[in-house]
Amino acid sequence: MMQHARQPSKITLRLGDIGFFAKIGAFGGGGGGLGAVRYSSSVPKIRPKIPQLPKNGRIFTAAFLGIVISGGAYATTKLVNPFFAYLDAETAHHLAVAAAARGWVPREKRPDPSILGMDVWGRRFSNPIGLSAGFDKNAEAVEGLLGMGFGFVEIGSVTPAPQDGNPKPRIFRLREEGAIINRCGFNSEGIVAVAKRLGAQHGLRKLQGRKQLQDLVKKVQAARDEMQWGEEGPPPLLVKIAPDLSKLDLEDIAAVALTLRLDGLIITNTTIARPDPASKNPVSEETGGLSGKPLFNLSTNVLKDMYLLTRGKIPLIGCGGISNGEDAYKKIRAGASLVQLYTAFAYEGPALIPKMKVELAECLERDGFKSIAEAIGADYR
Ligand SMILES: Cc1cc2nc3c(=O)[nH]c(=O)nc-3n(C[C@H](O)[C@H](O)[C@H](O)COP(=O)(O)O)c2cc1C
Repeated sequence: MMQHARQPSKITLRLGDIGFFAKIGAFGGGGGGLGAVRYSSSVPKIRPKIPQLPKNGRIFTAAFLGIVISGGAYATTKLVNPFFAYLDAETAHHLAVAAAARGWVPREKRPDPSILGMDVWGRRFSNPIGLSAGFDKNAEAVEGLLGMGFGFVEIGSVTPAPQDGNPKPRIFRLREEGAIINRCGFNSEGIVAVAKRLGAQHGLRKLQGRKQLQDLVKKVQAARDEMQWGEEGPPPLLVKIAPDLSKLDLEDIAAVALTLRLDGLIITNTTIARPDPASKNPVSEETGGLSGKPLFNLSTNVLKDMYLLTRGKIPLIGCGGISNGEDAYKKIRAGASLVQLYTAFAYEGPALIPKMKVELAECLERDGFKSIAEAIGADYR
């Protein structure tokens, strides 16, 4: 079983008027935690109240660290990046976040193709490809990451109090398989530090089963509805699930989501299973949640199941093993309105995002879709 450090118990926080959605992480795998999302819209109505990031030293260091980051945070091959070959995965990751926080990363200046635009929860996403939770756990690098061309960036998971997480090493590369095993166990600077950076808040705790989920969602919805919100209204509330759930669990979650009109589900977190070909790698014996390419089929099946169970009525974010535009497209055809990735971005770096957008637009056009919305669930309608 996965080791976990102290689990999130209860958080109360307020969301500001920037484009967040609140997330409850639930059910096994990476489990609990709290996330918030900032999205990139082609016509932002309100300038987000994110503190200005230092820009000094940008030109000189950009050349060096920009290349480092382009090599991918976890890349180990000497061909891709000799520097990272000598770093453990977590150190490489910290460097990547630090560089993105300072703007020492490539910036995508081209506007997104209009075919990639997507409206969800009354918000406009200029493209549907997001960075998933765990990369920028403490909201240090949101601007830099959005600037790389992501449609949205999820920060967190954030815990109520600062905590270290599990002992290191706790992130392991399965490079040949394009996968990672992690058992970070919610290392987080805590909600006060993160809220200071973002001016934002919301709440959650670890949960299991239909009743607990129902009670929790009701409480978070009620807390959210009591608060004062800007012109965009309250942030949507989403639940993130693991790919290791039984059909019964999925039915329970779908029922709660429909009854309580949950705004969305993120499908999925990492898996405790070791799908082929990851099982052949000796590193797969490490305890932890597996992400990356070997997770793709498992998570896409859960996405499809949930799309059918919720009858396409609830926006779903497809996550798990996406490493190119075609993968993103398959998630959309299986029922996703938006998609997220982590591991492929960590391996391949910022250049992956513009490439994926071009590939996704090509897939849509090839099959005669005029928008993302038209393609959602196309395989199961
Ligand atoms: C090192 C690492 C840390 C992660 N931390 C979190 C986290 O704090 N909260 C969360 O909801 N998901 C976390 N995830 C899971 C990712 O957000 C994502 O759901 C999962 O990795 C599957 O996507 P991928 O195959 O594209 O990586 C983490 C993943 C990795 C690899």
